Amino acid sequence: MSNEVLKIGHRGAKGHATENTLESIQKALDLGVDGIEIDVHVCASGELVVFHDFTVNRMTDGTGEISKFTLKELKKLKVKDRYQIPTLSEVLLLVDKKCLLNIELKGINTAKEACRLITFFVEKKGWNYNQFIVSSFQSGLLETVYEINKEIPLGVLTDTNLDKAVSFAKTINAVSMHVDYTMLSQEIVEKLQENYNVFAYTVNNLKPLERIKSYNVDGIISDYPNRI
Ligand code: G3P
Ligand code: MG
Repeated sequence: MSNEVLKIGHRGAKGHATENTLESIQKALDLGVDGIEIDVHVCASGELVVFHDFTVNRMTDGTGEISKFTLKELKKLKVKDRYQIPTLSEVLLLVDKKCLLNIELKGINTAKEACRLITFFVEKKGWNYNQFIVSSFQSGLLETVYEINKEIPLGVLTDTNLDKAVSFAKTINAVSMHVDYTMLSQEIVEKLQENYNVFAYTVNNLKPLERIKSYNVDGIISDYPNRI
């Protein structure tokens, strides 16, 4: 990867707009990001929706597990009084190859549908596989993606055991390690970069941004990508 650190907006541009909404993604694009990170779950009618939490309680006027709602029901919920939960398809159409898309698989059973959509957008909408990174904290989901389509770039997320994450990354031929920035040092970054691109998350404040940038990581995921 180039010397320039990739500026990746977290949940769109969470510091500027309501997370994981089309408005947040548009804001990230307006800020000129190199990439956008979003979280996905499968809903009861089978579509992938862009949402962080396992329940709709914190972000919407509804209550309950997101996986129990159909898309029609989810679309009726108000996110922070005015927005809608977008589908992954809607986000893909909005981003339309303008930047890298880091899809974080959160909910169970998200892998198969993510593979189907990514493959569809590559084959029918002119995307390249290298415009995607599918990441997750959950090894089983990444293994499923790897079994279905080996062309999809994979990233291993970790906020605990780096050695374990690296051993796992090898088994699925991952391209990147997505590491809680508080775990990183110059030495660790250099070691990881022998085999992987290193993405640090979620770096929002100027002091840690300076420190993490000085390690020459490959990408930084931030609520304020403009600060990178
Ligand atoms: O992908 C980086 C980051 O989003 C992981 O944590 O909880 O914000 O999804 P979280
Ligand atoms: Mg995330």
